[in-house]
Amino acid sequence: MKLLLMLVLLGSAAWAQDYDDYDTNNTATVDARGHRPLTRGRELYLSSRYNPPPISSGVTGPQQQEKVEQPESGGCTHAMDEMGVLCPNGCELKTMLQKQERSVRISLNSLRPQVEELSRESNQVFNYVKSMSTNLRERQRVINNNNDVVGQYTDRVEEQHAYIKETVDTHLPSTIRVLQGVLDKVRLKIQKLEKAIQTQTQSCQEPCKTKCPVPVVSGKECEDIFRRGGLESQMYLVRPDPSSAPYRVYCDQQTQNGGWLVIQNRLDGSVDFGRRWDDYRKGFGNIALDVGKGHCQTPGEYWLGNDRISQISKMGPTTLLVEMEDWSGTKVQPKLKPNSILTQLKLNSDSTNYVLAVDVYSGTAGNCLLEGSTELIGINRTMTIHNGMMFSTYDRDNDNWNPGDPSKQCSREDGGGWWYNRCHSANPNGRYYMGGAYTKLMAKHGTDDGMVWMNWKGSWYSLKAISMKIRPFFQS
Ligand SMILES: *[C@@H]1O[C@H](CO)[C@@H](O)[C@H](O)[C@H]1NC(C)=O
Ligand SMILES: *[C@@H]1O[C@H](CO)[C@@H](O)[C@H](O)[C@H]1NC(C)=O
Repeated sequence: MKLLLMLVLLGSAAWAQDYDDYDTNNTATVDARGHRPLTRGRELYLSSRYNPPPISSGVTGPQQQEKVEQPESGGCTHAMDEMGVLCPNGCELKTMLQKQERSVRISLNSLRPQVEELSRESNQVFNYVKSMSTNLRERQRVINNNNDVVGQYTDRVEEQHAYIKETVDTHLPSTIRVLQGVLDKVRLKIQKLEKAIQTQTQSCQEPCKTKCPVPVVSGKECEDIFRRGGLESQMYLVRPDPSSAPYRVYCDQQTQNGGWLVIQNRLDGSVDFGRRWDDYRKGFGNIALDVGKGHCQTPGEYWLGNDRISQISKMGPTTLLVEMEDWSGTKVQPKLKPNSILTQLKLNSDSTNYVLAVDVYSGTAGNCLLEGSTELIGINRTMTIHNGMMFSTYDRDNDNWNPGDPSKQCSREDGGGWWYNRCHSANPNGRYYMGGAYTKLMAKHGTDDGMVWMNWKGSWYSLKAISMKIRPFFQS
């Protein structure tokens, strides 16, 4: 650009100088008023400085004689005849000027394409600069827009910050106060519960007594009571042997035509079954509970007692019904419980450690008592059979596992009193586990000490409920 400008200026200066020189020399030598300069000694007459050609004749003719040399006179002719002869100095000047003009013209001609090129380029540069400035303006506009947007966002962020701050300052404290109130209430409830637990613990230090009113109907056992009209399932008073005192039992008068005397019941883990020989001999637990209706329709957890079971089973052929329920909510059928077994039971006396004798099995839950665990084979299975075994408690070891070795006691490891062999396929008096599945790590001795019925649920599943009921056996 700069170069271009300089060249343009130079070019124009060259042209200007050319004409200016010519003009000044003209004006300096030829006075406008026709006087000669005083410094010039030699006089040369000129009729007139300039005579215009006649209008009719052309001007080209006399110009052809321009280059005619006039050496004798030491001058040269003017371009126009009317101008006469020029002095020698003037001729030299003219020739020189003509020469210079030619060379200048040549260099100017050679410069022209460059100038044109430069001009074209300058146009391009100008356009480029113009588009640049347009871009710049556009950018500026975008920046301004962005600034506006940023400003708007800043405003909104500030608004939201203010809102959050207000919320935190005003609402949060009230929420915390509400939570504090809830916490205080919970604390009060916990205190009340603790007090209730304390009183319960105190009242439970004495053996629980059933305060249920005894129905007027009674009999030798539940089948007898059913015949006499005791059709409700509830607590009754039975007296199998007129020579001994009557006692309370729970009679199931609905299941499979009724008449069932409950000898064992587990349903919620409320009673500890890890008991001594004497407890198992006499019986323990809650026969039935009053749920506020004035009579005891709800059976509790209990063991009737080996003496009583033995005595009833000796009265004649006795049917044993074992019912079970798992934690998936298997519903009890009024007529037929899906997971139950029926068998005939005979229990020996205390002097023979209540040897179990069962026979004639039918049912759906697997006959653990007669056949042992069907998932085992050979000796491993036969040592889980309960039939023919004596009763064992942790303080009286009659099992088949290293007799005489106090460190090898099934009852001690498996949690309850039972007809242990070495040791069990069924453990209805075992520990109560909530939820069913349990592991070795959860067990006190690492053994399957839950309420197990292996042929139905395996060793590591503790049942939700299990009950044993007896009824006189009738050949139908
Ligand atoms: C006029 O012409 C003379 C002779 O050629 C020259 O020396 C002089 O510099 C010229 N004058 C101007 C003003 O250019
Ligand atoms: C009994 O169980 C033990 C231990 O699991 C095993 O080593 C043995 O082979 C089993 N016996 C039979 C007859 O299956």
